[in-house]
Amino acid sequence: MYSKNFPDHIQKLVPYVPGKPIEETKREFGLKSVVKLASNENPLGSSPKAIKAIKKGLSELHRYPDASAFALKSALAKFLGRKREELLIGNGSNDVIDLIIRCFCKPGEAIITTDAAFVAYEVCAQVQGVRTLKARLDENLVPDSDAIVKLVRDNPDAKLVFLANPNNPTGTYLPNSDLLKLVKRIKEAREGMIVVLDYAYWEYVTAQDLTPPEKLYPAFDHVVLLRTFSKIYGLAGLRIGYAVGHPSIFAMIERARQPFNSNSLALIAAEAALQDRAFVKKAFSLNVRERKAWEKKLEGWKVPFYPSQGNFLLVNAKIGFGMSGVELFNHCLREGVILRPVANYGLHDLLRISIGTRSENEKAWKAFDRLKRKSK
Ligand SMILES: Cc1ncc(COP(=O)(O)O)c(C=O)c1O
Repeated sequence: MYSKNFPDHIQKLVPYVPGKPIEETKREFGLKSVVKLASNENPLGSSPKAIKAIKKGLSELHRYPDASAFALKSALAKFLGRKREELLIGNGSNDVIDLIIRCFCKPGEAIITTDAAFVAYEVCAQVQGVRTLKARLDENLVPDSDAIVKLVRDNPDAKLVFLANPNNPTGTYLPNSDLLKLVKRIKEAREGMIVVLDYAYWEYVTAQDLTPPEKLYPAFDHVVLLRTFSKIYGLAGLRIGYAVGHPSIFAMIERARQPFNSNSLALIAAEAALQDRAFVKKAFSLNVRERKAWEKKLEGWKVPFYPSQGNFLLVNAKIGFGMSGVELFNHCLREGVILRPVANYGLHDLLRISIGTRSENEKAWKAFDRLKRKSK
C-alpha cells in the first residue's frame, strides 16, 4: 500500500540473500545433520581470547560503547604501525563501505567497481541513489585495469573506486605490479579520486605477488584499505571491521558516523582477537590445507575452479556437473550441505564453496561424489 511512496532507487533494490541458515535447512529437508559452507565464515569458530573478553564484558552492557573506540584503535594502531587518526571503526566492514559511499557521493553520482565485485558496494550505493559502473573482468575473472581507468576518465561524476583484492566471490586478485600501476593511473587520471581496496581476505593469502596492504597506504594517500574481524578472527556475528586511510578522509567521515556504530562487546572482542595470533595461525593453516584438499578433489572429478586466495572456491557447475550453480546448490542442500549460488553476480554456471573443517568438507565431497557417480 505504501510502496509507491518509496523513491525509485529503493523500489528497484534487490534484497540481499544471505547464506541459507542451518536450522532452516534442517526443517525444510527433515535433516538431522547439516553443514554450512556458504558464508566464508571461520569453521574453527571465534578466537578463544575474544570469547573470554566478551564474557568479562557482559557486566558492562548497561553502559554505552566507547564512541571513540579508543582501546581498539590504540591496539590496531600499534599492530599496524599507524596512528589512531588513520583508522575508522565500523559495524562490520559493510558499515564502513556504506559510510564511505554516503560521505563521498551525492544521489545520481556513481561509484566504479568491476563485474562480479563483492555485492555490498552496489547495494550500499543504490540505497543512496548512487549508480554503480562496472569494469569488465578478463576470461580468468581478473579485473581489467584499462577498463577501470577508462571508467574513471569517462565519468567525472564517479567519486570512488572499489576493488576487493582478493575478490569475493571470484577469489581472484590483481597481482602486485598491476595493482600498484592501477592505483597510480587512477591518481593521474583524476586527482582526488579515492580508491577503496577491500582486504577482507588478506589473512588467508598465500600468493607471493599480492600487494601487502602497507604498500598501498600510507604509500598512496588516495587509498583507503578495508579490513574485517569477520573472517580469520571468527567474529562475523559481532559485526566489527575497520578502514585504514588518510586522517583528512576519516575526520570528515567521523561527522557522519553513528557514534555507537560498534557495540561494546564487538570492540573488546576485536581487541582481544587481534592479540590471538595462535588462533589466526591455526585458521590460516587449516584454510591452506583444506583449500588444497578441495582443489585435489575437484581436479579428480574434473570440476573446473578458479584459483582462490580466500577461504572459498568458485567452481564451474556447468562443466563439472552439467547443471547450473543453483541446481547444484539444490542438489547439495538435499544432502545436508549448504553452498552459495552466485547467480546474483551474473555467474549462473558457478557455485561458491566456503572452505570448512575436514569433516564438513567430507560431507560435501560425499554429495559431489554421489552426483558424479550418478552421472556416469
Ligand atoms: C570482499 C568482502 N568485503 C567485506 C565483507 C564484509 O565483511 P563484514 O562482515 O566485515 O561486513 C565481505 C564479507 O563477506 C567480503 O566478502
